[in-house]
Amino acid sequence: MAAKTKIIICLGSSCYSRGNHKVLEVIKQYLADHQLKDQVDFRGQLCSGNCSHGPVLHLNDIMYEEIDENKALKILDQHFFSRVT
Ligand code: FES
Repeated sequence: MAAKTKIIICLGSSCYSRGNHKVLEVIKQYLADHQLKDQVDFRGQLCSGNCSHGPVLHLNDIMYEEIDENKALKILDQHFFSRVT
């Protein structure tokens, strides 16, 4: 069985209040819409000290900075469907 994709969203107060509260919902909806929940280990984390680059999101140990809903969707599309929107 293929390894699960690891997605970690920062839920520290800085990232959360600057947009990750919305990104969290967008990712949950995306995983549900594409039946990807079983293939993904999706979890939140506390502040990792990268607030100045935040909101941050990790996908398989790559850190993405200054995330918003659209950027998150592009990252997910690219990862799961290798398409750039
Ligand atoms: S709150 Fe996200 S890195 Fe600090």
